[in-house]
Amino acid sequence: MLITIDDVLSKDEVAQFRAWLEGAAWQDGAATGGSQARRVKHNLQLDDHAEPAIGLGQHILRSLAANPLFVSAALPRKIYPPKFNRYEGGGSYGTHVDSAVMQLPGSGQSLRSDLSATLFLAEPDEYEGGELQIETEFGVQEVKLEAGSLVLYPSSSLHRVTPVTSGARLASFFWIESLVGDDGERSMLFDLDQAIQRLTPALAEHQRELVKLTGIYHNLLRRWAIT
Ligand code: NI
Repeated sequence: MLITIDDVLSKDEVAQFRAWLEGAAWQDGAATGGSQARRVKHNLQLDDHAEPAIGLGQHILRSLAANPLFVSAALPRKIYPPKFNRYEGGGSYGTHVDSAVMQLPGSGQSLRSDLSATLFLAEPDEYEGGELQIETEFGVQEVKLEAGSLVLYPSSSLHRVTPVTSGARLASFFWIESLVGDDGERSMLFDLDQAIQRLTPALAEHQRELVKLTGIYHNLLRRWAIT
């Protein structure tokens, strides 16, 4: 499942983020990532353990917790503290796969990456290139969203960022361990939840059937969720 979620951050919030990010100290992104990924990674990243990354990351996590579409799609159990990257001057990230298990900073816990997320922080017309290309069973999907919008995609997929040939591409990225690790099961729950929510205002006279469908949603979640 590949899903885009618009307006995770408002344009005002994006402007605040941008002001913080412009003055930040960017580091070579190749310093992090697995050895295979490192060979193809040509970008800049913020120090995760310092401001502004910590504060901006917490802001994103609060926005996500209050976003019903994100919660419905991801069914998050754990979210990796958001990281920030910048591509410019031909910067790119070649085809790679994200690590399956990651250490959550400072917690001693691990996170299984079920979903990868990119939150765009630059408008598409501010830079050339920089498309996020995701290899799916239906072919390569190309994603380049408005600032403040987010894409969620299976961490199991091969993906890359094409070279940024002018301007700068700013984004936050992170991973989610879902209550439902299987992408197919999670997709069905999302579709069922969204359909019930759309039907509810139109079918007030069928309250009992709506409650039954809602019951089926929760019983499937009860069956599939690992808490
Ligand atoms: Ni990746």
